[in-house]
Parts: sequence; structure tokens; C-alpha cells
Amino acid sequence: MIKICGLTKAYQMGKITVPALREVDMEIPKGQFVAIMGPSGSGKSTLMNILGCLDRPTSGEYYLDGEDVSKKSDNELADIRNKCIGFIFQAYNLLSRVDATSNVELPLIYRGVSPRERRERAAKALEAVGLAKRAQHRPNEMSGGEQQRVAIARAIVGGPKVILADEPTGNLDSRSGEEIMVIFQELHRQGITIVLVTHDPDIARHSERVISLKDGRIISDEMVEDRLDARELLAAMPQPDVSA
Ligand SMILES: Nc1ncnc2c1ncn2[C@@H]1O[C@H](COP(=O)(O)OP(=O)(O)O)[C@@H](O)[C@H]1O
Ligand SMILES: [Mg+2]
Repeated sequence: MIKICGLTKAYQMGKITVPALREVDMEIPKGQFVAIMGPSGSGKSTLMNILGCLDRPTSGEYYLDGEDVSKKSDNELADIRNKCIGFIFQAYNLLSRVDATSNVELPLIYRGVSPRERRERAAKALEAVGLAKRAQHRPNEMSGGEQQRVAIARAIVGGPKVILADEPTGNLDSRSGEEIMVIFQELHRQGITIVLVTHDPDIARHSERVISLKDGRIISDEMVEDRLDARELLAAMPQPDVSA
């Protein structure tokens, strides 16, 4: 699904060149659930932005679903991003002035889907993340975990092949984080390829494979042997105090 060869990215800061990725090779088969770990500044977000066609490498090759992404124009990249990729950020990146449904519909507007079909698909996506009842609420009327679930609904509404999530549980308490992992594990069961950046080794253990970066290079790449099941963990957690 994803294949990169000799991928290098350097940022130019005036006269100084900041290397962010150095000759990275990586292959992710269709349907795999991968966690990327590494210290701050190791190049995780740079890698995700390139995988998500939000940025281009300085050199090297990137094949997404068999297509050579480096040969595409900016318009073609925008199209691939819209149709093939769902992106989820640590800070949710929702529009604050409109309700959950309108946020989730957004990628379909760019695609020219009719208003009626947009509503239907947004409703389905919100249902899939357990937010059917919150469809008319704005982001500021929701908890962080709910906002992140709206962001996931927006990422899946277009039926992406790949989900890229950059520290999606970084701002959340452990229970809300576990609820997010339930959704990712369900999307994985449905066959979607998932790449998730996290600082948290326990979050990484929900995936199938952990790749660690340091100073822009891969320093380890291992399959997870004792995977955690988010549904089980969530069931074992104390219930939130609803009276508060
Ligand atoms: N837009 C940018 N301009 C200049 N340097 C950048 C930019 N983005 C990231 N970097 C640098 O590239 C390196 C990798 O950053 P990043 O990919 O954000 O790491 P991580 O997500 O692992 O914390 C760091 O040294 C960072 O300072
Ligand atoms: Mg980062």
C-alpha cells in the first residue's frame, strides 16, 4: 500500500539546512496497522506529512497504492489526498463554528457530492464513531475525546484506503484515548491501512507493528507480539462519574 525508498527531507532555514528524514526505506502492506514512535524532533510528523501528500520529499521515492506520488502535480496530489487518505491530527483541527455533521461533510463538498448524500454519509460516519446523538453539536460543546471522534468521522467519510493519525490521543485522558483505539482497531478489522504516530508505548501496543525513528532514521521495526485489545481494556476501566 505504501512504499518509500531512500526518502530524504531537509528543511531550508535561511542558510542552514535542517535534515528531518535521512534515506528512509519502508514498506507497509495493505491493511496493516502500524505505529510510529520516536523522540520529539525525530521526523515523525515530517514523515506523516509526506505520506499524506501534504508535503513533498527532498529526494527519494514514494509509491502509494502502486502510484509514483513524486510524479504527480499539486492538483493530482490534492485529489489523491481527498479520495485515498484520511488525516487525523493531535489538535482535532475542526471548524469551530459549525456542527459535527458539517465538519464531517467537508471532504465530500470538495468532491462535489450532493447535499443529500453528504448528510447521509456524514450521519453514517458519526454513527460509526458513536456520535450519532451529537451530530448537531459544535466542537466547543464536546469533550476532547468527542472532538477527536468527529475528526475520525471526517477522515473516514470519504472511504479512504489509508488513515494517517499524528498523535491522535496526545491531548486525551487514558479512557478517551482507549475509546479512540477501539475505533482504530475496528477500522483495521475493516481492512483500512493505518499509520499512527504516538509517544505512548501502550498506545503503540494496539497496533501490529512498531517502527521507531531517531534523528530521521529508522532504528527499529518490530511486530507487536502481545497486542492490546482496546475493547477489553475499556471494559476493565472504571466508569466515568456521570453525576459530576
Ligand atoms: N517547517 C519546518 N521548518 C524547519 N524545520 C522543521 C520544520 N518542520 C520540522 N522541522 C525540523 O525537522 C525535524 C523533524 O521534525 P518533526 O518531523 O516535526 O519531528 P517529530 O514529529 O518527530 O517531533 C526537527 O529537527 C524539526 O525542528
Ligand atoms: Mg510531531
